Amino acid sequence: MILVTGATGTIGSSVLRLLRDQGGPVRAMSRTPAKITAAAQASGSVSALGSGSVSALGSGSVSASAAAAPTEVEGEGEVEGEVEGEGEVEVVRGDFDDPVSLRRAVAGVEAVFLLTAPVSPTPRHDLALVEAARAAGVARIVKLSAIGTGERFGADQVVGDWHLEAEQAVRAGGLAWTLLRPSSFASNTLGWAGAIAAGTPVPNLTGAGRQGVVDPRDVAEVAVAALTSDGHVGRTYTLTGPAAISVPEQAEVLADLLGRPIGTIDLIEEAARQRLTAAGLEPTAVRAALIGSAWARAGRNETVTDDVPRILGRPAATFRTWARDHRTAFGVVAGG
Ligand SMILES: NC(=O)c1ccc[n+]([C@@H]2O[C@H](COP(=O)([O-])OP(=O)(O)OC[C@H]3O[C@@H](n4cnc5c(N)ncnc54)[C@H](OP(=O)(O)O)[C@@H]3O)[C@@H](O)[C@H]2O)c1
Repeated sequence: MILVTGATGTIGSSVLRLLRDQGGPVRAMSRTPAKITAAAQASGSVSALGSGSVSALGSGSVSASAAAAPTEVEGEGEVEGEVEGEGEVEVVRGDFDDPVSLRRAVAGVEAVFLLTAPVSPTPRHDLALVEAARAAGVARIVKLSAIGTGERFGADQVVGDWHLEAEQAVRAGGLAWTLLRPSSFASNTLGWAGAIAAGTPVPNLTGAGRQGVVDPRDVAEVAVAALTSDGHVGRTYTLTGPAAISVPEQAEVLADLLGRPIGTIDLIEEAARQRLTAAGLEPTAVRAALIGSAWARAGRNETVTDDVPRILGRPAATFRTWARDHRTAFGVVAGG
């Protein structure tokens, strides 16, 4: 059994689908289990999560498994259980702030995909999961970190300091570990959909700084390789696309595919802070995002590696490939 945390998010939902398609068994964790089916349906070309069976682990016992019907979870409301595919998917309610839920999530698990969210950046969530996994005798852990983690920038700034402490906990946790440090996700540009549809410029926090923008599907595929084979233990991978590309260059690719001009507007310092705060980020998350943006703007994230092609045995996807596959998500039809 492999536990996938962050299973409703960009990377986790992709990891979940891949593991399910390999036959599982896989357990998906969310604070809101009902979101899991919906997220899997929404985020990929692969069809809806799960025609195998889904069983739901709530605070009580497993009470149902079913195809094409909501499954009751005692004490937890309902989990959508419409499923198709090869393997078995269990759904568990889990919250990094709730140690009891983590103990339940890791029970009987051999490997964990650990993804924590920078809503309020803290190593606390990773530490809690590592501790629960160690106590439960989990053998393997694959943590999603980020490129640049621990790099010093400016007078007193450290890129991804919360991931740095979490990485150290994963390395010291007594489990066989793999660390994944992806570059900027191609999918971040989905946040531009509103501006593109409105014909207004998209925000650019990184100026002319180029980044090895990576397809989230490649990140998920590497995660699955690390979760399911022995060849990646003790390795830290830096996952990038095949070329470094700036935000204006990403906008050009999208403009070409969507058949409409897409401008960019530079947002730095106070303007960037205001934009991120208005988007609902907490002050610590805003600070972390501003450090990462300034680092990339200074040209410090122009890194391109061959980790993705070496691990997957095929080229990493370009930003154009990702954008072409997701062009309908921008809500405009080419030439429209
Ligand atoms: N975006 C980038 O360019 C980039 C680049 C490099 C690295 N990263 C790293 O990628 C990670 C984010 O990945 P993503 O974009 O796939 O995430 P995402 O789409 O933002 O999803 C976040 C996930 O975290 C879960 N979550 C949030 N708070 C939780 C809590 N308290 N307990 C349990 N689960 C919780 C959410 O699940 P529920 O809401 O269902 O509970 C959701 O599945 C971060 O660690 C970030 O540093 C991002």
